[in-house]
Amino acid sequence: MKITWFGHSNFQIESNKKILIDPFFKGNPAIKDQSIVDEIEVDFVIITHAHADHLGDTIEICKRTGAIAIANFEIVNHLTEKGVKAHPLHIGGKKKFDWGFIKLVPAVHGSSFQDGSYGGYPAGVVINIEGKNIYHCGDTGLSYEFMMIGETMDIDLVMLPVGDNFTMDVHDAAIAAKWVKTKKVIPMHYNTFDLIKVEKDEIIESFKDFDLILMDPGETVNM
Ligand code: NI
Ligand code: MN
Repeated sequence: MKITWFGHSNFQIESNKKILIDPFFKGNPAIKDQSIVDEIEVDFVIITHAHADHLGDTIEICKRTGAIAIANFEIVNHLTEKGVKAHPLHIGGKKKFDWGFIKLVPAVHGSSFQDGSYGGYPAGVVINIEGKNIYHCGDTGLSYEFMMIGETMDIDLVMLPVGDNFTMDVHDAAIAAKWVKTKKVIPMHYNTFDLIKVEKDEIIESFKDFDLILMDPGETVNM
């Protein structure tokens, strides 16, 4: 499978299905060519929480492609009202497919829409595809939830926020990776804005015991 990082928390997983997570393209300073939003092909769009830098261009992408949005019940209600096909989940629940599953897990954060309305509980997501478990943590601080996930699922790869200020910093993120019991780490949610600037050397140092996949926005890796 191929994994592409579009900067911030925006990833595409390409396998027999195309899955987008937190599709923040328009207004994302990390992406030079924001017109990707008009071309990208996708089957499922997962939204971890309602903040604008994660909900992003979900509505536009789902309407153009017919992709199914997957998020918590509150976000799905919001999207369904706007005419998007969507499937509601909530924390701890999963949707099974013939190719794997999508499961929402806890995140410690907020989840309001731009207008301040309630966006439900924030989430991370575990995507089971090609027999691998890929864990995208959404926005979160360090919590014992990581230990719970490490105890209950075999995680092959984790995407961890490292930008500090709104989420964990690199130090806490390395503890989270240890608790999740995975070697493969992709850092995210950093260097998009001034408030979440992190030196790459600091990331490399913090994750020296891990198989660190340090991506540039727009880069694709094969898994
Ligand atoms: Ni957020
Ligand atoms: Mn965020």
